[in-house]
Amino acid sequence: MVPESGERNTDNPGTAQNNVDDGGTFDFIVVSNRLPVDRVAGEDGQEGTWRRSPGGLVTALAPMMAKTDGAWVGWAGAPDEELEPFDHDNMRLIPTTLSAADLELYYEGFSNATLWPLYHDVIAPPEFHRAWWDAYRRVNRRFADAVARAASHGATVWVQDYQLQLVPQYLREARPDLTIGFFNHIPFPPPEIFAQLPWRRAILQGLLGADLVGFQRGNDAANFLRSVRRFLGLTVKQQRVQVPAADGGPSRASRAEAFPISIDVSQISQLAQREDIVERAAQIRRDLGNPTTVLLGVDRLDYTKGIGHRLKAFGELLEDQAVKVGDATLIQVASPSRERVEQYRLLREEVEGTVGRINGTYDTLENTAIRYLHHSYPIEEMVALYLAADVMLVTALRDGMNLVAKEYVAARVHDTGALVLSEFTGAADQLRQALLVNPHDIDGLKETIMAAVRMPPREASRRMKAMRRHILDHDVEQWSQSFLNTLAAEKGSHEH
Ligand code: G6P
Repeated sequence: MVPESGERNTDNPGTAQNNVDDGGTFDFIVVSNRLPVDRVAGEDGQEGTWRRSPGGLVTALAPMMAKTDGAWVGWAGAPDEELEPFDHDNMRLIPTTLSAADLELYYEGFSNATLWPLYHDVIAPPEFHRAWWDAYRRVNRRFADAVARAASHGATVWVQDYQLQLVPQYLREARPDLTIGFFNHIPFPPPEIFAQLPWRRAILQGLLGADLVGFQRGNDAANFLRSVRRFLGLTVKQQRVQVPAADGGPSRASRAEAFPISIDVSQISQLAQREDIVERAAQIRRDLGNPTTVLLGVDRLDYTKGIGHRLKAFGELLEDQAVKVGDATLIQVASPSRERVEQYRLLREEVEGTVGRINGTYDTLENTAIRYLHHSYPIEEMVALYLAADVMLVTALRDGMNLVAKEYVAARVHDTGALVLSEFTGAADQLRQALLVNPHDIDGLKETIMAAVRMPPREASRRMKAMRRHILDHDVEQWSQSFLNTLAAEKGSHEH
């Protein structure tokens, strides 16, 4: 096939580095845009330290890292910083440098203003800029080089998420001895939308460098395979693509499959039973004036989350007097995110304007309609919020999985509470007993919220029990094991 514009292989930017010696010592390497640690500032000029970031991925992989000779490659979170590899929590962390320009072009630009909206149903218009694409290739090359240097002969590498879709191919070229897995944490769009990307073929080829490409939902894997057929003209059989070798040698197989991610269920359940956290949940309700119903939304402040649709529905319920301030309060936690990207700035203004209007209209001196918090909180406080909430609202317009929905279910150890969950989340494939909604249908959303507010305790308990059963059997540990076992089996099957 004729290469599409911008996809020539001859002008590799960055430090093209093929056939790196098998010089590294690590048998298992995870690579993601961010390292799984956050910086904690030191006191009074003391040097800062690192703390493991919240989130299931690192919890699931840390034991594996400690057991095997494992390392994690990624960015430490600040621009222009050259850090030496260091150990944390029995893990070797290998920082990659991102300059201020890389951040603007690769991270804020191509990752979060091209791919993010394109992969989320073009809820916001994606922008296509050649300079962003060049930076994306350059940075992906840098990450691949760092992995190629660190990996031992025959090591397993697991590449995470949409920021690094070219890494599998770059790595395969430099180190054909490696076993390479890729997992996409966000949706993969249908070919009709993916078609817009000027560099669609290069992205598909990048991903096909992996032996196993994992997605959240069966639909995402199917979308990817349809794009592979349509834009690369390759044959797909039983979810396997036959990938021809560049030099006319024997082809290799790359498999696409769904592995729905989960959370550390036992950690959340344990926190939900800790006395101080249970007391904190009661305190939260008291501080709100003990309303009959506490509703809760928890999201990164992102346009994919449907926060505006949720606020509109809640505002109309107040207007209709279906709910009353004092009886019902909505807590909306919106954690700051990607604040230098234009669409995120606009969203913040819009959400805060709407909250201000609703509260201005319905608040009393004693009570508020919406308690809006533009913060992020430690997991202990999140669990207290989940315990304090009678109704959890997840109204995303498109979401790869939505782990907040799973965290709420994990925290409801007494089988109480109701989950309103958008059909457009990966979680809706698994949490079938939630009250599923189409968030675009505001009347439907209002009815569903009221059904959750009024849900008889026996029905709530039946639904919550079934959802808890599902996630107890499908935690993040099981997810990572299942991906890595399939990866090992795939690699084994090629070698016969
Ligand atoms: C999503 C993505 C992750 C990303 C996270 C936070 O969950 O799938 O890859 O790390 O959002 O976004 P940020 O841009 O702050 O890393």
